[in-house]
Amino acid sequence: MTGMPTYNRQPYGGYHATAVAQEDAELTHVGPGTPCGEYLRRFWHPVALSSQLKDLPLPVRALGEDLVLFRDLGGRVGLLHRHCSHRGTSLEFGIVSARGIRCCYHGWLFDVDGTVLETPGEPPGSRLKDNVCHGAYPAFEYKGIVFAYLGPPAEKPEFPIYDSFALPGDELVPYLLSFPCNWLQANENGMDPIHSTFLHTRVTTVQFEVAWGELPVIDWNELQAGFFTTNARRWGDNIWVRLHDQFSPNMGQTGALWETAETEKFFTRVSLTRWCLPVDDHNCQYIAWRHFNQSVDPQRKGDRTKCGVNRIDFPGQTPAASYEAAQRVPGDYEAWIGQRRIAVHKQEHLGTTDKGVAMARQRLRRQIQALRDGGAVVRPQAKAGGIVPTHSGDVVLRVPKSTNDDRALILDVSRRVRDVILAADDDPEPQRQQRIERDLRALSRA
Ligand code: FES
Ligand SMILES: [Fe+2]
Repeated sequence: MTGMPTYNRQPYGGYHATAVAQEDAELTHVGPGTPCGEYLRRFWHPVALSSQLKDLPLPVRALGEDLVLFRDLGGRVGLLHRHCSHRGTSLEFGIVSARGIRCCYHGWLFDVDGTVLETPGEPPGSRLKDNVCHGAYPAFEYKGIVFAYLGPPAEKPEFPIYDSFALPGDELVPYLLSFPCNWLQANENGMDPIHSTFLHTRVTTVQFEVAWGELPVIDWNELQAGFFTTNARRWGDNIWVRLHDQFSPNMGQTGALWETAETEKFFTRVSLTRWCLPVDDHNCQYIAWRHFNQSVDPQRKGDRTKCGVNRIDFPGQTPAASYEAAQRVPGDYEAWIGQRRIAVHKQEHLGTTDKGVAMARQRLRRQIQALRDGGAVVRPQAKAGGIVPTHSGDVVLRVPKSTNDDRALILDVSRRVRDVILAADDDPEPQRQQRIERDLRALSRA
């Protein structure tokens, strides 16, 4: 096949396998006019943290576009094309004004919607400003994150509100992490839960909890708006079912970071909600909330003071202190950027544990092609009270080991847990949580 590398099973046969295939452009290229870029432009994406918006403009890059973000003195957020419509000076050197931002070079004033308000060097009565509208995108702040929509104005969707944005007793702390690699490899990590057994436990050191080192039984379920994955393990007399959401195209959530699986749990919820922002083809960012609450982190191992811009309170998400440290205890950061700047799918050899990654790529390709062919974009559907139910969390049930086929038992339990959780999707809170808890307790007794 053209472009395919030649694989040779011969020992010391590297000479025969030096060709490197092209990346999968359809899924990885995100700039304006690319198929994936067009698809991604139908969704709201986070572009910065509110804490980054101070009195100066902030240069940002999203979906391959150079932009400038600011909060004007009236408190409105503006996201504009970075280069001034007059003669191109970067608006990162502009002056944030009472209304909009003023270019430093000749003083043109731009409103947050791109309207040119003033061209002060022009003679009175000049119509120049009326013939220009600077590139601008809608943006707003929500719980410490700035979200923006870079798509066609006529297709702007509602910003979806997920249940996990307002869980009882939960505090959301925003953070942003930068990764010098394509968005897809960081994003599809959420479909690859088995890496926690190896990267985070067996191959390096116990980066989280020792129970993560047990080989899980993983079951991927495609739902209307993405995937719901159960990642279940035997731990003594318990079965720990970890639940993970991955909404299309780039939102994911996980359960507890430091789950020990020692005590029974009936759907404790989320430890992080994150979006993987494609900055450009070669860079991405996790822009996210850490959730702090007693039920997810009873031992209080999390530390909200460590969460911010390129800072987080759990290992492996940022560059190591030294190259040697990165080699000795690599984390997610090294694993993702180590897949090349853009991972080359044709060079991979996917196995049974990569089923989720394969399913996610197939779904993404279907969505991109459907949009290209004039179809509609699939979005999460709000249920009770306009909220999108999510399913991430942890369930630990006392289920002694089967003398027969324990992995079959683990899979069966994980599917029963899945069914209990999905069955409550239409219930409003707090009845939904109560029903899930009641049904999981009944499952445990059974
Ligand atoms: S380049 Fe911006 S006002 Fe002239
Ligand atoms: Fe990880």
